[in-house]
Amino acid sequence: MIETTTDPSALRRRCDDERKKGQRVGFVPTMGFLHHGHVSLIERCRDVADFVVVSIFVNPTQFGPNEDLESYPRDAEGDRDKCQKAGADLIFAPPVSAIYPEGHRTSVSVQDLGDGLCGAKRPGHFDGVCTVVSKLFNMVGPAVAFFGEKDYQQLQIIKQMTRDLDFPIEVLSGPTIREPDGLAMSSRNAYLTPEHRRQATCLNRGLTAIADAARKAPLPASRAVQIAKEIVEAENDARIDYLEIRHSGNLQPSDQVGLGQSVVAIAVFFGSTRLIDNRVI
Ligand code: PAJ
Repeated sequence: MIETTTDPSALRRRCDDERKKGQRVGFVPTMGFLHHGHVSLIERCRDVADFVVVSIFVNPTQFGPNEDLESYPRDAEGDRDKCQKAGADLIFAPPVSAIYPEGHRTSVSVQDLGDGLCGAKRPGHFDGVCTVVSKLFNMVGPAVAFFGEKDYQQLQIIKQMTRDLDFPIEVLSGPTIREPDGLAMSSRNAYLTPEHRRQATCLNRGLTAIADAARKAPLPASRAVQIAKEIVEAENDARIDYLEIRHSGNLQPSDQVGLGQSVVAIAVFFGSTRLIDNRVI
């Protein structure tokens, strides 16, 4: 059975031991309820590190007051199994009190990159992400850490934070892993009713339609948004939270798709379930 610890000091000791042996420590932070997207990051990490740590922690500070913290899906046993099969060496699954003990007062905030998209719709979300990831980086002390391109804005913010705070960590990414029908894998897909699950392919279909159109001719952002909007809104229960074209590097608004690199980012509600996806073009 894969080694598991809930205690930050024990985690630190284990990682110190491995480093002393000359092992390169790799890290994949997650909130659990693992799917093939998470597994693919663990496998990539395995390829470039000798000792792979996976954290499983549903981080309360990145959830808004009316979000799904309480109902966030959990499956400790299934997660252990997946981590082991993917080749992880250690699971860190701390209780909230170990990460945020009484009296915790510090928050990490990256300027600008979190102003739009998910940052605008989920105030405080990325401060919670940056705070927990900084703490986890300090506890694990990895040489390399993996994040998914599925959460594109998160990835850019973590890269910026890592540079700005001088973490000696190489931040690498893995591509978005999808279901056979194109829906990006997400722990939150578990919330979807069968009907919403069927409609949910519209995010990827909308993004693909924009990518196809942009391949043929330069595409004004307004036209691109219209193309995807028509596809998404053809589904009865889809409610667009945002659909925007941004520069892929600095996440500033862009008025053209494909002049330099663009990212098309989308968030859609089905009932109270919010799904995100993106495409770099
Ligand atoms: P979570 O949503 O569990 O995702 C953990 C990692 O898996 C993230 O880097 C995310 O981008 C990646 N991931 C999720 N779905 C993916 C998919 N379909 N394909 C590829 N990668 C995917 O993101 C978080 O947790 C948290 O914010 C965290 C960074 C752990 C901080 O609490």
